[in-house]
Amino acid sequence: MANIWKKKDTAGQTERLPRHIAIIMDGNGRWATQRGLPRTAGHKAGAETFRRIATCCKDLGVEYLTVYAFSTENWKRSAEEVGAIMGLLKRYLLEAVDSMERDHIRLRFFGDMTPIAPELRALAHETDEISAHLPAGDFQVNVCLNYGGRDEILRAVRCFAAECAAGERKPEELDEALFSSCLDSRGIPDPELIIRPSGELRLSNFLLWQCAYSEFYFTDTLWPDFDETELKRAIEAYRQRDRRFGGVKK
Ligand code: IPE
Ligand code: IPE
Ligand code: MG
Repeated sequence: MANIWKKKDTAGQTERLPRHIAIIMDGNGRWATQRGLPRTAGHKAGAETFRRIATCCKDLGVEYLTVYAFSTENWKRSAEEVGAIMGLLKRYLLEAVDSMERDHIRLRFFGDMTPIAPELRALAHETDEISAHLPAGDFQVNVCLNYGGRDEILRAVRCFAAECAAGERKPEELDEALFSSCLDSRGIPDPELIIRPSGELRLSNFLLWQCAYSEFYFTDTLWPDFDETELKRAIEAYRQRDRRFGGVKK
């Protein structure tokens, strides 16, 4: 695909292409209900959209794509729906084990994996091992599974507190960089752009620490209908934003 999105400016920088895009993949249930289908059919369609959008981000030259697949709150749904989502994730991971080396896609998980079924955890472990052997510059997908921004922060705090109690760290050492290195997203730049389809105007516990200066893009399109054109529209909107980070425009 001709990469008009990655044109370089005079300083040789990629012109306002986000290095890291994060997406709240929302609206699967409504998409299915509108068609008289079970909610699980929406998740299946959403999984296809995820595959397409991940490829599209990679082709555009985005370095990191983080997707919200299952939140710490999504356990409230029926066992059937949760099972269907986990089944789709399993299918994606089985595919990934065979294709990520060929396609140069690294995979990482954000979230607490302890309550995840052993079979899925083993597959995630396998994709972690493959990712570790792929070059650091390869496109990376972060899948948020049993992820909550508050839970991520609490786990980081617990870990740091335990190191202090063990005498390995001192509380006054803690700064933003050290705290960031305790999070699931350690080593990854904060997302410049967060996209939420489906018309909801909230974060639903997504990347609470990392979103401090993210630009937000909301669209009414339901996730299964989200496509390359929508993605480019979101990036174009991001490019028009005036990012000041608390400073004053020169
Ligand atoms: C997002 O779609 C997928 C997950 C939360 C796992 P939803 O299932 O929330 O779809 P809506 O919001 O009910 O339409
Ligand atoms: C956020 O969507 C979680 C995911 C997309 C995985 P939800 O559908 O769970 O969020 P709420 O309930 O509308 O806030
Ligand atoms: Mg929803």
